[in-house]
Amino acid sequence: MTTIAGSRWAITGAAGNIGLSLREALTEHHVTLVSTDLRSAAPIGPHDTFVQAELGDLEALVEVFAGVDGVIHLGGISDEADFHDLADANIVGTYHVLEAARRAGVPRVIFASSNRLTGMYTAGDHVSPEMPPRPDGFYGVSKVAGEALCRLYADKFGISTISVRIGSYENQPSSAREQRTWLSPADALRAFLAAMSTTEHTAVFYAVSANSDSWWDLEAGAAIGFTPQDNAASSGSRQPIDPGTPQGGSYATPEYSTDRMRR
Ligand code: NAI
Repeated sequence: MTTIAGSRWAITGAAGNIGLSLREALTEHHVTLVSTDLRSAAPIGPHDTFVQAELGDLEALVEVFAGVDGVIHLGGISDEADFHDLADANIVGTYHVLEAARRAGVPRVIFASSNRLTGMYTAGDHVSPEMPPRPDGFYGVSKVAGEALCRLYADKFGISTISVRIGSYENQPSSAREQRTWLSPADALRAFLAAMSTTEHTAVFYAVSANSDSWWDLEAGAAIGFTPQDNAASSGSRQPIDPGTPQGGSYATPEYSTDRMRR
């Protein structure tokens, strides 16, 4: 376990939903941040610098990453979209992040992967990171490619890469699916702190709260020090889901993808 306080990290997708709250929390843990996003955003305090950049701009990322201890890569399209756009932002973008990290000599990249990489497993399945990907859409496919790039950079170029398969990041669970997939903001912080401080060279784990009805194996997270504390079951009555339906729910329907394709 390495010490987080006093370290310097870059965050992509820093103006997004998770980025904004993670930046607040990490500065409270005395991490100095270099935050970057396509959209402009204000620094959140004296220990945060904001640089507006596009994931398509490799040279800009090399500059942003100079001198950091690690990169948390949250940037990209965060839901189903046309494949061409996902390929640019999420696949080429993740390649640029890893390659910029290699060129800048950054020792670790943490990748915001997604549960949607296994969303075609059914509600009756217990899924672990060792099982083959079964994405529920093109967004999930882009995360499969992102995890593969992370593994390549760990195996071939010696960069430590940790893929965090984020569940449903919400303040409260609000559906039967989210009772299984909920990741509370406090547990998300625990997941990222574990990914930042583990001594493992590479890992893939599900970042999900300790939900009574969870579909996913927590062992890989436990192995790197992630112990979730929240449980969706304490936020309301437990609703059943037919064990034969895909874990991705409505995300797994053909229409969810075709409605977002370019015509
Ligand atoms: P978000 O959509 O709120 O934030 C993503 C950020 O990336 C945005 O601020 C956007 O401007 C930036 N971005 C998009 N394309 C870019 C580009 N080409 N260049 C530079 N910046 C670009 O997403 P959120 O919810 O904060 O998620 C963060 C990460 O976690 C994403 O990678 C998402 O796929 C992943 N994730 C999130 C989950 C959730 O429940 N919120 C669940 C599973 C995975």
